[in-house]
Amino acid sequence: MADFTNQVAFVTGAGSGIGRATAVAFANAGARVVVADINDASGRDTVEQIQKSGGDALFIACNVAESAQINAAVHQTVATYGRLDIGINNAGIGGKFGRLLDQTPEDFNQMMAVNIGGVFYGMQAQIRQMLTQKENGHQSENNVGKVRPAGGRIVNVSSIAGVRGMPMGAPYSASKHAVIGLTKTAALEYVRQNIRINAVCPVYTHSTMVDELISTAPGMEERMRKMIPMGRFGQPDEIAQAILWLCSDGNAFFTGQAIQLDGGMTAG
Ligand SMILES: NC(=O)c1ccc[n+]([C@@H]2O[C@H](COP(=O)([O-])OP(=O)(O)OC[C@H]3O[C@@H](n4cnc5c(N)ncnc54)[C@H](O)[C@@H]3O)[C@@H](O)[C@H]2O)c1
Repeated sequence: MADFTNQVAFVTGAGSGIGRATAVAFANAGARVVVADINDASGRDTVEQIQKSGGDALFIACNVAESAQINAAVHQTVATYGRLDIGINNAGIGGKFGRLLDQTPEDFNQMMAVNIGGVFYGMQAQIRQMLTQKENGHQSENNVGKVRPAGGRIVNVSSIAGVRGMPMGAPYSASKHAVIGLTKTAALEYVRQNIRINAVCPVYTHSTMVDELISTAPGMEERMRKMIPMGRFGQPDEIAQAILWLCSDGNAFFTGQAIQLDGGMTAG
């Protein structure tokens, strides 16, 4: 398992599901973790869970759709822990389940504000901070002895709906395609500053969001399961482990990628 001792990870939407599993996994691997979420109660629960296992975590209330709030959260992170090594832009909403013509301008705008705005503003705040600091921790063999001007790793949470269409979820699918565009572009813009930026694209994964989708129609869960060659949903910790791998030093040559965690769905 990768070691993130002395590193500081900032995880949005860490009060639930994939974000919570990621925050817990980073803490178990030695990182100090900021749990940023719009939901106070669930965010504080994640922090309590980490602290009970002997980890170090801080809750910051934050709506990722608001640039000022995410900037303030990153400032508070640095004021508390001194630096920021890892940014995980995970917070997202599933939106309304319905065809294109059933989606209102309000549905569309809210989706874009949270799912794209959260990643865009998140990366701005994180990269701005990362550019001010020297690289932390172990350096790869190729970098030994070289002074690196900055350093950091970012993972944005897209979706399988970010690489293919999702009937009944046009705004969601559009927002997740945009997350990949943001990821690739930012990765190219900051590659020489030693900031690696990647995305994960999970298929259905056990979480509140998927429970809501399952409840939209009888037989829905079975239909969703059948779409996945492995015949099951993902577990939040399976996505978390891929995120940790993307952020690990052993993965130093990997940037601008969107990896699909889909039980084989897109292989066919
Ligand atoms: N669960 C899946 O099947 C699945 C599949 C692909 C991608 N994803 C993506 O994974 C990410 C996490 O989803 P999840 O399944 O764990 O869902 P979840 O609903 O369990 O967790 C989402 C978290 O984000 C927080 N959040 C929502 N809006 C926010 C805002 N404006 N500001 C700050 N926090 C906010 C919520 O409070 C919650 O804690 C999302 O971006 C989602 O689109 C999920």
